[in-house]
Amino acid sequence: MNRRTPSAPQSGYSELVSSFLQTDGYIGASAAKTLVVTGGTDGLGRAVALHYLARGAEVVIIGRDAAKGAALLAEAARRGAPGRAHFIAADLSLIAETRSAIEEVRSLVDSIDALVLCARHFHSTRTVTTEGFESNLALFYLSRFVASHDMVDLLDAAPEPVILNVAGPTGTGAAEIRWDDLGLEHGYDGRTAMQHGGPLNDLLGVGFTLRQPTSKVRYVLLHPGIVDTGFSGQYDAADAAHVAAIRDIAAPVEQAVQPILAVLDQPPAAPLSAVVQGVPISIEGPAFDVEDAKRLYAETERLLSR
Ligand SMILES: NC(=O)c1ccc[n+]([C@@H]2O[C@H](COP(=O)([O-])OP(=O)(O)OC[C@H]3O[C@@H](n4cnc5c(N)ncnc54)[C@H](OP(=O)(O)O)[C@@H]3O)[C@@H](O)[C@H]2O)c1
Repeated sequence: MNRRTPSAPQSGYSELVSSFLQTDGYIGASAAKTLVVTGGTDGLGRAVALHYLARGAEVVIIGRDAAKGAALLAEAARRGAPGRAHFIAADLSLIAETRSAIEEVRSLVDSIDALVLCARHFHSTRTVTTEGFESNLALFYLSRFVASHDMVDLLDAAPEPVILNVAGPTGTGAAEIRWDDLGLEHGYDGRTAMQHGGPLNDLLGVGFTLRQPTSKVRYVLLHPGIVDTGFSGQYDAADAAHVAAIRDIAAPVEQAVQPILAVLDQPPAAPLSAVVQGVPISIEGPAFDVEDAKRLYAETERLLSR
């Protein structure tokens, strides 16, 4: 049970629901009622948060920008969801702040139906956090590892919990992982660093199911396709031009979020699934190798304990 019972929809609710993502305005039997969304202040995470707030859910949004968080809470209140939207300010590229944020989540809710992992930030130039981790590795992988494993008790307190890791299952796997250089000290470039997060998160999903064998959580890895979002990041001229070019072919958020909502409303029954733009892909390939997942889990524990 959630600590807080969703309040009755306020006036304007129906209008919001019909205008935003064309839903029918109620939470179905399987739909998430309490969500935690990382990177929920922009892009796909923001769309997920607003969608479920419109449907009466309680949503905890974690982001690094307090002003964006305040704006989102104001938007939620304006749309009739006061009290059900929460913002936690945290720089999730820092493991300490990720852990603090999880403690704050615990103070707000006592169960989580859906944990949606969306935080990402592009760096054209290699950056190291104050904790000594390369920034993409820290935010795109290590923080997601900690969030996934350290909230499993809250997730298991919900009837049908799901972790939706929005990243990029690639189906190619360990061949792409730089096992001896996870922090990309050598030959760094921003796009490679972002792409490196895909296979790491694939193995995070595999490792989660191995390490949490009694958990009810269904772990879903989802690639949304190319989407016209906030593209949070620090871009040099070449990478900025690349982003501008892909915006021309990118899907709008309202369209790309639909497969995400479908998974959250009806999570697959299997403990682990991978979905690319709404289409399930096999988890039998090298991207989901059990021995690689064990190797990465061990390496991650070593990194986090240093
Ligand atoms: N868009 C695409 O084409 C695409 C393609 C493949 C996969 N994906 C995946 O889809 C997911 C969502 O992407 P998106 O395109 O919706 O992203 P986005 O619009 O760029 O939003 C990213 C979110 O993460 C937040 N964030 C950045 N650094 C953070 C930090 N250190 N701590 C906490 N929050 C931080 C951002 O906050 P600020 O706004 O304050 O920076 C923002 O709320 C990502 O995992 C991405 O890898 C997207």
